[in-house]
Amino acid sequence: MRNIAIIGYGVVGSGTVELFEKNREEITRKIGRDCDIKYICDLRDFPGDKYEDRLIKDFNIILNDDEIEVVAEVVGGATFAYDYTKKLLERGKSVVTSNKELVATHGAELFRIAKEHECNYLFEASVGGGIPIIRPLNKCLAGNSILQISGILNGTTNFILTKMIREQMDFDSALKMAQELGYAEADPTADVEGHDACRKICILGSLAYGKHIYPEQVHCSGISRITLDDVEYAENAGYSIKLIGTVKPAGKGKVSAIVCPRLVSRSSLLSSVDDVYNAITVTGDGVGDVMFYGKGAGKLPTASAVVGDIIDCLKHRDRRIMIDWEDCTDKSYVVPYKQIENSMYVRIRANDAEQLKPVIEELFGKVVYLERSDRPDSELAFFTPVMVEADIDSSLTKLSEKAEIASKIRLL
Ligand code: HSE
Repeated sequence: MRNIAIIGYGVVGSGTVELFEKNREEITRKIGRDCDIKYICDLRDFPGDKYEDRLIKDFNIILNDDEIEVVAEVVGGATFAYDYTKKLLERGKSVVTSNKELVATHGAELFRIAKEHECNYLFEASVGGGIPIIRPLNKCLAGNSILQISGILNGTTNFILTKMIREQMDFDSALKMAQELGYAEADPTADVEGHDACRKICILGSLAYGKHIYPEQVHCSGISRITLDDVEYAENAGYSIKLIGTVKPAGKGKVSAIVCPRLVSRSSLLSSVDDVYNAITVTGDGVGDVMFYGKGAGKLPTASAVVGDIIDCLKHRDRRIMIDWEDCTDKSYVVPYKQIENSMYVRIRANDAEQLKPVIEELFGKVVYLERSDRPDSELAFFTPVMVEADIDSSLTKLSEKAEIASKIRLL
């Protein structure tokens, strides 16, 4: 039976076809009935491609073919993919996706449509590439109250940071390499500025706490302002710099969520997660800390999760798989990040920075000063105590009357 279609024949789409074809016999055995890819839909031409006979350009062929039970949407973006997904679900065809932008912006609505039409919308590949995290969170950890989810959720930025720190490669060369390896988004700004990780933490937080967290509610900053000076201070003090997404309950039924670079202590497992690898730590009130680790981007790792979802849909024909959350219209559900407590790494520049130590201590209380080789007299770096972020900012505003605030990076 040729009951599968793929929309999008880029990195993930071609990986999905490759992995499926490679393991088709095993997959058929697992499902217990025949299955195959009937269509691959893409507007581009692929002359001489091995699967040229299955390539189509018209999405409606898939929509109108009753034999198609499950469609992998690996187009990306939230415009065409949104339209296609809605139409497919409304026809009762299950959809699986790696499209975190679509799930993070329209997930609640698409789950509702899938439910109304008794089909499934699965998204294991949308977070962590090949790492199983959606199902463990939804099933195996369901008995816990989730106290925190924290992780390295973007392979491209982790790859860039690793190359910069370990090989002193410059930012642009490292980014180019990540693009060549198929890790980066079509527009890599989404990786570098943290938007991709933001979508992923929204998905995890929505699943863990049951209400849709929208990306625009989450403060997000990327890695483009990290300098090698900061890296050196951090390394000297026993920390790595990683782009981290975090979501946790914030009391009174609300949550806090943020994506930003953080100094991660070498005693934390997250600090040794390098290259394209992602790692997600989930803290449950019963289980304690559990960590999920693996390749967070790339052709076959992401395809692994897409094909897994295809299999799940085919195994559960005519059955709903309950992996979803509700919409949330409460604009105050995600508390402002300035109300959350953090310790902050701060680097300042001033003519004679040492002389500012009494001012710094008056503003922040007990701070920890940091060192790096050949630290210029005009530079000082320190960790603030744990303080509400709004208070850190108001002290930094006062300090900025006497010094330039060159960097501020939160600690994990
Ligand atoms: N651009 C993403 C990353 C791809 O680098 O993690 C996987 O979602």
